Amino acid sequence: MADPITLTIDGRQVKVPAGTLVIEAAKTVGIEVPAFCYYEGFSLQAACRMCLVEVEKMPKLQPGCTLPAAEGMVVYTESPKVVEARKGTLEFLLSNHPLDCPVCDKGGECELQDMTFRYGAGESRFVEIKHHVDEKQWSPAVYYDAARCILCYRCIRVCDEGIGVGALGLTYRGVAAEITPSHGDHLECDECGWCIDVCPVGALTSGTYRYKSRPWEMNYAGTICTHCSDGCKTTLSVRNGEVIRANNRDRSGVNGEFLCVKGRFGFDFVHSEERLQSPLLRKDGNLEPVSWSEALAAVAARFGEVKARNGKFGIIGSTHTSNEENYYLQKFARQGLGTANIDHHRSGDVPALLDALSGKTGKLATSADLYNAKAALVIGSDLAQQHPFLAFQLRANFRHHQAAVYTVTSGVVREEQYAAKSLHCEAGQELGTAQSLAEDLKKHGDLVILFGDAIRGQAVRQLVEFGESLGIPVKYVCLVDYANSRGAMDMGLLPNLGPGYHAAPAVGLSRDEMLAAADLDVLWVVGSNPFKTTAPAGTSTFTVVQDLFLTETAQRADVVLPAASAYEKNGTVTNVCGEVQRLKQGPKVMGTKSDLEIFGLLAKELGLNLGIWTSDKVFEEIRRTVQGYNVPLPVIATGGAAQTAAVNGGVPQTGKPEYIRSAGDTLFTSGTLGRYSKMLNRVMEAPGQLYKP
Ligand code: SF4
Ligand code: SF4
Ligand code: SF4
Ligand code: FES
Repeated sequence: MADPITLTIDGRQVKVPAGTLVIEAAKTVGIEVPAFCYYEGFSLQAACRMCLVEVEKMPKLQPGCTLPAAEGMVVYTESPKVVEARKGTLEFLLSNHPLDCPVCDKGGECELQDMTFRYGAGESRFVEIKHHVDEKQWSPAVYYDAARCILCYRCIRVCDEGIGVGALGLTYRGVAAEITPSHGDHLECDECGWCIDVCPVGALTSGTYRYKSRPWEMNYAGTICTHCSDGCKTTLSVRNGEVIRANNRDRSGVNGEFLCVKGRFGFDFVHSEERLQSPLLRKDGNLEPVSWSEALAAVAARFGEVKARNGKFGIIGSTHTSNEENYYLQKFARQGLGTANIDHHRSGDVPALLDALSGKTGKLATSADLYNAKAALVIGSDLAQQHPFLAFQLRANFRHHQAAVYTVTSGVVREEQYAAKSLHCEAGQELGTAQSLAEDLKKHGDLVILFGDAIRGQAVRQLVEFGESLGIPVKYVCLVDYANSRGAMDMGLLPNLGPGYHAAPAVGLSRDEMLAAADLDVLWVVGSNPFKTTAPAGTSTFTVVQDLFLTETAQRADVVLPAASAYEKNGTVTNVCGEVQRLKQGPKVMGTKSDLEIFGLLAKELGLNLGIWTSDKVFEEIRRTVQGYNVPLPVIATGGAAQTAAVNGGVPQTGKPEYIRSAGDTLFTSGTLGRYSKMLNRVMEAPGQLYKP
């Protein structure tokens, strides 16, 4: 850290590292210097002059957003001269700004409105007719109203520097100047909507939220995005039971303000017309709506009868259900039904990684490590497509700290735009190709290795041997697909491993083996759609499905139980880096129940004593019994993230790494959920239409 210097701001002594900007130095003692164009973490613009401050011995007011603090400097942020200057700046900004606050989406959370209230003149000396241009729709997600734009260029910078897309630029000059998408009249971009979020005024508005509400008319639920495994915190804005916006403006959670298109706009599956809102029971060959009690009784009767005659169960769990639900489901299977046949769609070989790392500590990277490491090696994953937040972390690390990023992939990936070295290889050759980078990697102070499903089983152990041979500190991330893929494994939804990766009492069938077994008496599928890709061999198997939609699997079920999504429940999930975070209920969809409640009611119906089925109670049990999950409660309860401790002992082999495969989602797809999101399907970059930034 640079040597500290001392300066005085508004009469207070402030000690900061040399080179700190005055605007940031002021923040450290709770003094806010107003700013429109300045945005922490992005290049400096000095375009708006809102941040002017008075500095002793300097003849003119200075922009606090570009002025480095110096030893002995004396700064005034609210002197009469400063206040007068801000009033003038606002008068200029408002000279062409429509005064449509009563109908503007940003009303109530507009920085221009706030500043005008604080410093603005009650009247304007400008009487000229305002230059007007019509609002433009750039994409289903993003609208632009040039008349409201104050040309702060925040949107251009977050798109270019933050997202790495550079879809926005400036056209025309003076009063006619406008922000313009690089494809002329429309956007071809990541559709992340971050530009909307950072816009200090209502110039950029969101396709899902515009003209729907005022900020004070909504309830807010800070929860975790339910799409990919990166675990971004997202705040759902709920009005009249409907989610109409998602963002993370309070910068809490691992992701700060970052959200990709799925986190910001992909919540609309919640209110899809195709949501199941009543249990369905097959009668005379057709699925017919029945009451919850009739459906649960039918399931319990068959489960009880099959259990009594030692019949064969198969249970496929979910990569989206909470840790509590996954834990309870495996308990239901092993203790309640006496079966070892439990699995889920595995997309990364976490057990092999934990086994390879046994005896070592501090080897699993957090998402913050991706921002701080000196170097990163990405093997076999198109990170920007499959792990948008992890890709953002690496890009920010490169931008802020010049981190060296290496990629080994079978195709072109976005990280190549700034990578120190990128190697392409045939699929299956990833490990050997990565090993050829040894001399490059050794040069760096530390390294994070991220690997996808190309590296599994024995290859994971070889990769760890390679990493440990480099002679520098190395941490690892085993990339998995969905919001709680990691939690599904940690909680023991595996045929040979119980919670915490302990050997299960018996080894059961894997997911693929269950689908191939013609003699299964019962197949219970929770939040998964295996029949989409694999037809089951069993023709007389009694199939129970818990899901949000009538998926390909649900269509063939005997009983379908309508489940609540992760946005409609409390609990915890664990992201790809092993960070446990809290789910908080936003809306409630009529007729559905959380999977945990369904398990509890079924257990009751069967007369099983599996414990109380509230998420808090089950989480308590998880903290007590699952290795690595004794995470600090206050961190979780206050919406923070706590990394699970690595299992520090050998993990029994899975022996079946061939069943591990990623679903290969892209930035605009998200398995079943993505199919029911109108927004993800409406944007022109939608599935299969990947654009070239
Ligand atoms: S939506 Fe995202 S990618 Fe598209 S222009 Fe805005 S910031 Fe850039
Ligand atoms: S659209 Fe918003 S963020 Fe972009 S320059 Fe205009 S005011 Fe700034
Ligand atoms: S990166 Fe993943 S977790 Fe984050 S918002 Fe996007 S889909 Fe959600
Ligand atoms: S915030 Fe300093 S000039 Fe805009």
